[in-house]
Amino acid sequence: MDERPPPRPLVELRGIAKHFGEGETRVDALRDITMTVSTGEVVGLLGPSGSGKSTLLNVIGAIVEPNQGWMRLDGEMIYDGQWLRRDLRRLRLEKIGFIFQTHNLLPFLDATDNVAVVLQLAGLAREECVRRSVELLDYLQVGHRRQAMPAQLSGGEAQRVAIARALANRPRIILADEPTAALDSARAGIVMDLLRKLAAEQQASVIAVTHDEKILDRFDRIYRLRDGLLVKTEERAAA
Ligand SMILES: Nc1ncnc2c1ncn2[C@@H]1O[C@H](COP(=O)(O)OP(=O)(O)OP(=O)(O)O)[C@@H](O)[C@H]1O
Ligand SMILES: [Mg+2]
Repeated sequence: MDERPPPRPLVELRGIAKHFGEGETRVDALRDITMTVSTGEVVGLLGPSGSGKSTLLNVIGAIVEPNQGWMRLDGEMIYDGQWLRRDLRRLRLEKIGFIFQTHNLLPFLDATDNVAVVLQLAGLAREECVRRSVELLDYLQVGHRRQAMPAQLSGGEAQRVAIARALANRPRIILADEPTAALDSARAGIVMDLLRKLAAEQQASVIAVTHDEKILDRFDRIYRLRDGLLVKTEERAAA
């Protein structure tokens, strides 16, 4: 028997549009984006350079304000013609985990502290921060490198530390901008499998931009963006 709770929408966008600039310099980065991503889903975002992928992640992460449409995160209306929450920083801290193409770890902190610092920002006691950090690094199979400085980590290790950091506050919505771009295909597969495991175990949603054809089978669903429009989606049988 499958005893997992039924999926529910974590990310809902309707008619989202975003342009930068005005007049001759206007760029319509997103024109009319409607998408729903539910708990446990791992969704891929594909499209040529400039098609709006990063902008879409930044809108979902409440970093870029859209111009039109509405967006609900974890059941809460966040944007409807304007931001409906004043404390977007807190919203991000509580609900959203960002993973970038390159790890951007803090070079002067070891792996443990790179993760712990996020928990400290959220107000946890130092001891608890370190305990949870080590637990997360273990979960991501990089616990043996917990005292290493970023410069001493391999690309794959550093990316897993960065993922641990993105997950530190147990976000339900994980946004990743080409998380495997700097990795070889074996390590890219490991990172994607971890994201899948996480989505399933923590009832989270993962939305990941990728150019990497080799990992497309790791997604439940794929959206393709072109000129700010979603042009095609592919349902995939989850493994
Ligand atoms: N802050 C900004 N100011 C002005 N234009 C922007 C800004 N951010 C993005 N754009 C423009 O919006 C369009 C979409 O950009 P976006 O970064 O979302 O593309 P992308 O699909 O992520 O591309 P890539 O694959 O190269 O990362 C591009 O034309 C880009 O130049
Ligand atoms: Mg981009």
